[in-house]
Amino acid sequence: MFRRNEIAALAILASVCLLLVVFNQKEAPRYPPFDDDRPNVSHITLKDVVKMQQQNNELALRDYPFPTGKSLSDYTPVSGGSPLRTIIVTTWRSGSTFLGDVLNAVPGNYYHYEPLLDYGIVQIRGPPYADSALTNLKNLLNCDYSNMENYLEFGKEHTYLFIHNRRLWNLCEAFPQYCFNSRFLSQLCQVFPFQSMKTVRMRLRLVEELLKDPKLNVKVLLLVRDPRGTLQSRKHRNWCPGAPDCDKPNLVCADMVADYSAAIQLKKLYPDRFRAIRYEDLCADPYGHVHSLFDFFGLYFHPAVRDFLDSHTKQDAGGVSSTHRDTKNAPFRWRTELNFSEIQYIEDSCDQAMKLWGYVRVSDEVQMRELQPLITNYTIQ
Ligand SMILES: *[C@@H]1O[C@H](CO)[C@@H](O)[C@H](O)[C@H]1NC(C)=O
Ligand SMILES: *[C@@H]1O[C@H](CO)[C@@H](O)[C@H](O)[C@H]1NC(C)=O
Ligand SMILES: *[C@@H]1O[C@H](CO)[C@@H](O)[C@H](O)[C@H]1NC(C)=O
Repeated sequence: MFRRNEIAALAILASVCLLLVVFNQKEAPRYPPFDDDRPNVSHITLKDVVKMQQQNNELALRDYPFPTGKSLSDYTPVSGGSPLRTIIVTTWRSGSTFLGDVLNAVPGNYYHYEPLLDYGIVQIRGPPYADSALTNLKNLLNCDYSNMENYLEFGKEHTYLFIHNRRLWNLCEAFPQYCFNSRFLSQLCQVFPFQSMKTVRMRLRLVEELLKDPKLNVKVLLLVRDPRGTLQSRKHRNWCPGAPDCDKPNLVCADMVADYSAAIQLKKLYPDRFRAIRYEDLCADPYGHVHSLFDFFGLYFHPAVRDFLDSHTKQDAGGVSSTHRDTKNAPFRWRTELNFSEIQYIEDSCDQAMKLWGYVRVSDEVQMRELQPLITNYTIQ
């Protein structure tokens, strides 16, 4: 015999489930997170919420073409599976918000968006931060939030840490009591078959530590951008000017040179799990490159990914971190936004980096406006 309040509880649970299905279909996360017309969900347990997300993932992936002989449970840690893990390694203002959201368009993806935000505007190249930063990345990739206090405390004050992980953020909106609970996050993460991560603060050489771990089995993509484009774009971010790792062309380009050496090494050691791409190439042919990146990652080019590209590569709309953009022109805005002496200053600091990555110098003000092409071939060898 059912008791009346059990039935009531089940009814609320069912309506919340529906709510979540609707949430999960929405493209953009909503903010602010709280509104007053929600049902009272304070009695729904953490386990119930995780269970609901698990069911949502099963529903969203019912048609997903897993490789022959494999199914969802082979990929979710909760069932002893091993998720597909992808990491985008890049630096600020290099197009990673766009590429990160492309990956997150895949149903069943859990997105570790810039997990090193709490380190501030610094590049991590070695001591003193490398060890703790790598430990944090490994913890997250293993769905272990038990020693992530700094990260979670930072997230409470800076919700953009979680907003991009929209499947998590939907739950944060519905159940704010669990959002920054490490036990909840650890369990929730484990019901997802795909995990993506992007970081703009860790240089490539250190990432070998993650590639080396056979249990993680990560795929790593280095995303590179013309330093003239990156530095122009950074001029307008209030958090960048004054932070040397961010606004000094010589430091930015020394990192590009170091990343190039690391790329040679990683390509040799992990030819199937490491790749590099230039932002300008991605923008010139987003569909083609995303297709080939998905092959590399072992992900299916899902209709949701096509929809995302359709709606985000055609016209320029939205704010500064918007991923809606005219992808053909976005990379080259520096040509009109910087003056010739600014460009020369960057090029003089970046000679080697630009040669290695195939970016062409301009020699006068006419070329600055008209030289074609601005990029040429590069090889990692
Ligand atoms: C929500 O439900 C809990 C217990 O089920 C109760 O203590 C709380 O007062 C309710 N909150 C509202 C706003 O109704
Ligand atoms: C170029 O731009 C910089 C920064 O906006 C400015 O300080 C400088 O005077 C400009 N130079 C020329 C030649 O216009
Ligand atoms: C770049 O590579 C393509 C294909 O390998 C080749 O056809 C082309 O000539 C190269 N361009 C330059 C500038 O080296």
